[in-house]
Amino acid sequence: MNVPVVTIDGPGGAGKGTLARLIAKELGFNLLDSGAIYRILGLAALRGAVDLDDPGPLSTMATSLSLSFPFTEKHTDIVLNGESVAGQLRNQDVADAASRIAIHPLVRDALMFLQRQQACVPGLVGDGRDLGTIVFPDAKLKIFLDANVGIRADRRYHELIESGQTVARSAILRDLEIRDVRDRTRSVAPLVAAEDAFVIDSSDKSPSDVLSVVRELCQAHGLTN
Ligand code: C5P
Repeated sequence: MNVPVVTIDGPGGAGKGTLARLIAKELGFNLLDSGAIYRILGLAALRGAVDLDDPGPLSTMATSLSLSFPFTEKHTDIVLNGESVAGQLRNQDVADAASRIAIHPLVRDALMFLQRQQACVPGLVGDGRDLGTIVFPDAKLKIFLDANVGIRADRRYHELIESGQTVARSAILRDLEIRDVRDRTRSVAPLVAAEDAFVIDSSDKSPSDVLSVVRELCQAHGLTN
């Protein structure tokens, strides 16, 4: 069935996740955190000591994941095979594993199926890297949310500190730069704005400024009453 989909793509730390959650709540749509899907597979691979450079076993593992994303305005939970794993996904090791497994076309194909499965009535808001270009090319509204890498590092730093982790800002900046290059230069589904995406630079915008812009776009695209 064809349900309305809103895609929010962009690099790590641009504010996609928060924006996606708020818009999903406002529209009453389902929510897809596609980065979490890559992170979950990264976590599962690290737990099972599966080689991150070997697409065969990784894609087999990908097809057996059972996932759901119960969420409120403030928080998204991530449930893997009945276990809440949200608290284990937001660290540098898992982020790095996710971006390494994400370069394999076989793995991306297996995870594409899981992502498309989330497009259920009444609609879906998803955030990621290739949702507007590859996973949901017919999405009703496509946003590409960008921000300069220093600002993204600051935001990630505060997010991780608030969640009780001890991290150095310099390590976060380095991680974002490495993942940016890997995501933008991989041969399959590289990070790029879809031709029909609205590009928003959030470097000098507050989350509520960005939300207002996207709210107007939702209205203009007939997504709200
Ligand atoms: O968005 P997040 O930082 O959680 O994503 C983790 C990693 O998963 C990214 O660096 C990227 O390599 C990969 N990813 C992807 N395609 C998506 C979402 C995430 O390749 N749609």
